[in-house]
Amino acid sequence: MEQAGGGCSVFVGAAPEVEHYHGDVLGIARHRPRLSWVYLQEPPQDARAKLSVVRRFPGGAPRNQSVLLNVDDNVLAEWPFEPLGSRERVKASVQVVDVQGHDLGYGPSPVRKFEMGLDINDRIADFVGPSWGEAETDHRHLPLVRNEFNVSKSVKSARLYLSALGLVQAEINGQRVGMDELTPGWTVYRNRLECWTYDVTAMVRLGANAMGFWLGDGWYRGRLGFDGGIPNYYGDSIGVLAQLEIEGEDGTITSFQSNAWDRSWKVSKGPILCSDLYEGEIYDARLEEPGWSLPGFDDSSWLPVAEIAYDPAKIENPELQAVVPHEHHRPASIQPILSSKNDGDTTTAWMIDFGQNCTQRMRLHIHGLPAGAEVSIRHAEVLEKDGSLATHILRRGQEHDVYISNGKDAWWEPRFSMHAFRYATIEGWRGQLEAEDIDCRDYYSQMEPTGWFHCSNEMLNRLNSNILWSMRSNFVSIPTDCPQRDERMGWTGDIDLFSPTATYLYDVQGFLSSWLRDVRIEQVTNGTIPFFVPFVPLGVWAKPQAIAIWGDAAVAVPWALYMEGGDKRILEEAHDLVHDWIEEVRSYLSPDGVWDRKPGFKLGQLGDWLDPTAPPDNPTQAMTSKELVATAYFARSVEYAYKIAGVLGNDEEVEDYQSLHEHMVKGYKARFAKEGGRMASDTQCAYAISIAFGLLNDDPAFKEAAGDRLAELVKQSHGKVSTGFAGTPFVLPALTETGHSDEAYSLLLSTECPSWLYQVRMGGTTTWERWDSLRPDGSINPGGMTSFNHYALGSVASWIYSTIGGLRALEPGWTRFEVNPRLGGGLTQGETSHLTPRGLALSSWKVENGSVRLHLEVPVGTVASVAGREYRSGVYDLTLESRK
Ligand code: BGC
Repeated sequence: MEQAGGGCSVFVGAAPEVEHYHGDVLGIARHRPRLSWVYLQEPPQDARAKLSVVRRFPGGAPRNQSVLLNVDDNVLAEWPFEPLGSRERVKASVQVVDVQGHDLGYGPSPVRKFEMGLDINDRIADFVGPSWGEAETDHRHLPLVRNEFNVSKSVKSARLYLSALGLVQAEINGQRVGMDELTPGWTVYRNRLECWTYDVTAMVRLGANAMGFWLGDGWYRGRLGFDGGIPNYYGDSIGVLAQLEIEGEDGTITSFQSNAWDRSWKVSKGPILCSDLYEGEIYDARLEEPGWSLPGFDDSSWLPVAEIAYDPAKIENPELQAVVPHEHHRPASIQPILSSKNDGDTTTAWMIDFGQNCTQRMRLHIHGLPAGAEVSIRHAEVLEKDGSLATHILRRGQEHDVYISNGKDAWWEPRFSMHAFRYATIEGWRGQLEAEDIDCRDYYSQMEPTGWFHCSNEMLNRLNSNILWSMRSNFVSIPTDCPQRDERMGWTGDIDLFSPTATYLYDVQGFLSSWLRDVRIEQVTNGTIPFFVPFVPLGVWAKPQAIAIWGDAAVAVPWALYMEGGDKRILEEAHDLVHDWIEEVRSYLSPDGVWDRKPGFKLGQLGDWLDPTAPPDNPTQAMTSKELVATAYFARSVEYAYKIAGVLGNDEEVEDYQSLHEHMVKGYKARFAKEGGRMASDTQCAYAISIAFGLLNDDPAFKEAAGDRLAELVKQSHGKVSTGFAGTPFVLPALTETGHSDEAYSLLLSTECPSWLYQVRMGGTTTWERWDSLRPDGSINPGGMTSFNHYALGSVASWIYSTIGGLRALEPGWTRFEVNPRLGGGLTQGETSHLTPRGLALSSWKVENGSVRLHLEVPVGTVASVAGREYRSGVYDLTLESRK
């Protein structure tokens, strides 16, 4: 064993992070934000962490404060100073010093800047919007709102506080504010709405200025969801709330806020004829009014705005970060598909393949089009066998944009519609379509990447990449099932299963805890956990009913967040959510603890949803008994609930839930466990969840026999997957746990349909909803519900990271973790790294001359357990015994 050392002059290499945001952040929500930082190496004995802040209110003088903290208080350290006030700005850094606070010669960390959002009493703007009678539903002509203002003092700083009923994009003096899309994001608007903060110092100038706002329907009043969808769900009038605050060099504060009473805010119909999140956008450039967001524009034909009522107490500062563009995607190919001549004018239709399916949008360089000519842009995830776009699987969500030219060159991208696709066609194009005419960017909520994986099998690497892309595509403001068809809902079951993988790949603490607040709101409103959150009463799902897995997300998601981040506050805030779910379902159990009373819901339990043997049009018709699945999942929730109660110190709850758990396990076994290690449903799903949820732990012989039976079933299926949503995440863990690593690898590495690598073999660049969304003959699954971008079946990744890569948290927040790669499947090399709250953990192994060399990196403040030995922070190179 070797340990690499090496000194450094700075112990804290990066600026501290604030709460669960990353980077510098404006408009935070908490008045006592917690700070976290990471050490590059073990601080000296008796050292202290000196946290220094410079805080300042706009218009005020800076104040310096510092405090000495224990060095190991470096994760979510409580705010040690008096609470921050509305708008207050902070610069924070950390330095390792001696007990008295004296410099030890190690420099301070870089500085983190953050600032508070507006408190309710300081938010004086009103929502304003169109003052004309609008069409009652769908496809409404979208407005622009504008205002001019004068700045008489030289500007030290300026902030725009912005929210909308609907969606908004702001401009100041003709320049776009921020890079966020789909602002303000989707929350249960009836209860809460986010207000975002932008630094617009560089955009505001002395003298005349103007601000302008594009408004869209978005989730607020756009048509939401499937089965026809529902328009105007939250309201039928859209509006913007804007409050601009300017700090002069002389310390004065001037503010301008949207309102309908001073008559200076105007509204008019803009160039967006209509825009629907799912269906696409129609833009008529002939309606552009150049200079509309510049001062001096003649707005005499514009109307005064109308005020749109909304309770200001429901406006809040966000705890997650905005949807922003990430990578640019260049077309992999551009092919002409059809040319047509009309009055001597030749237009060509083009097919573009971007090589990657994901949530993205094209910005097109429109040129050479006469005024009034249209370009029609369609998108799809896959092609039909005849090479045309497969748009029927999008159902109503047709992702179809139309641009009507004003005869001038322009770069154009839809503003208030979002698309997910790999292929696009452009019709009506004049001349050659060049790659330079297309700028395509993917969009998802800003999150810090925290998980990486690589191994010697390229198909597995592609699978990992597909899982990443399906996660990104579906982490757009809320965790959705799919990003393309007329659905895009926060289906609770999907994230229940995927959350352990999600927490490994990205820091989703802020993103998911924000969504959990909506889950709680919907639980209180509906008396149960709805199928998707935010809830919209759609089709057969219109009346929320308790169903296993989906409802169990109320417990599983907080638990996954806690195991990853170790943030007890997430559990405190989830307490009522967890408690009410447990109490509700407890009342549905039969006396023996089995959940066999059907929810009063047409489809009953969804069970092992999308079991591959279920008919395409009836995904609930699984091989595994629904009662078995429901009881197993709820027992797992009860187990998490008593662990949560333990962390929160609620002893009575611990006892109560523990005895409920024991009772359920007993009843479960009595009902579903048969002689000789057989389960009543002799299926992979039944064995997998019984083993992985620990339901057979008190009878080791039975558990072993059940593991053997599972392995046998896998062999019988010749490595093909036989599970749907419920069983899939747990088959490989259950096989490994019972010593059947070979069978686990054979399932993972199978390329036959259905299997994970079948999707890779068929050219998938994301994970699919159905194992065979694309069937072996290249045709698209005929089920009415076929997506190529669902993350649920990608939940296998947490096994890949823990078992091939070898990293798994043993304690919340990774203070202790296991390094235990189990080799198999002919792999000769594997590597995973994870940015834990305390720094980067890395496990990288290689088979060399018949032995396994493991390179290990253990961050400061954590302990790694390898084959029963503990390793404190450092870098190690070990030789392992043969590993299986
Ligand atoms: C969604 C799923 C969801 C399911 C529940 C589907 O339409 O896309 O992912 O969990 O319905 O029934």
